[in-house]
Amino acid sequence: MNNSNDLEWDSKLNVKTSIFDYMEEDYQNYGYDPTPYVVLEELVKLDFLKKDDVLVDYGCGKGRVSFFINNQIGCKTIGVDHSERLLLMAKQNRERYGETKDITFVHSKAENFIPDEANRFYLFNPFSTKIFRQVLKRIEKSKEEHPREILIFFYYSTIEYKMYLPTEARLELVKTVTFSEETIQDRVPAYLSVYKLK
Ligand SMILES: C[S@@+](CC[C@H](N)C(=O)[O-])C[C@H]1O[C@@H](n2cnc3c(N)ncnc32)[C@H](O)[C@@H]1O
Repeated sequence: MNNSNDLEWDSKLNVKTSIFDYMEEDYQNYGYDPTPYVVLEELVKLDFLKKDDVLVDYGCGKGRVSFFINNQIGCKTIGVDHSERLLLMAKQNRERYGETKDITFVHSKAENFIPDEANRFYLFNPFSTKIFRQVLKRIEKSKEEHPREILIFFYYSTIEYKMYLPTEARLELVKTVTFSEETIQDRVPAYLSVYKLK
């Protein structure tokens, strides 16, 4: 849901990311809905992201996370999405934001993407936890081959992720911030959790 803060940030960054799009949704791959900027502001305040980090946004859609984080932190971002149509909008947004080599968009299913360049990962309800387990295997393999500290940021409100995350033995919870219905203008509260890959 959009509020004035979302529209203001889109306007400041000169991008159009606010309109949801569920045209390509199926039961495992969810549709486009942007993270509220208030949540991204909090992510920056948590101070887990630094200029030298490389952040992958799994299921980037129109690219909001990439633009905001690049603007605030100055780090490299890689948006991955399986929708060619949404990626085209992300690339049009990048033209408006100001072409930069630090923001790349990759057309791929997240479960096929090899994340060797990245050390930070962001997910807002892109797909089922079944697909996430495949993604996590790729991240684990990448960490084995190229050892580094890996943090994964989850923004979520669904029962699916609420049930799954505490049971995932490969992840260690570092921090959770709760967002009230009022703050995010939604019907249910949501959570931003930071996990470390063990
Ligand atoms: C809820 S939106 C999140 C958008 C963005 N990350 C944000 O937080 O503003 C989920 C996105 O995941 C994408 N998606 C769904 N399944 C995917 C998959 N298997 N691989 C890559 N992207 C996927 C959708 O096309 C959609 O753009």
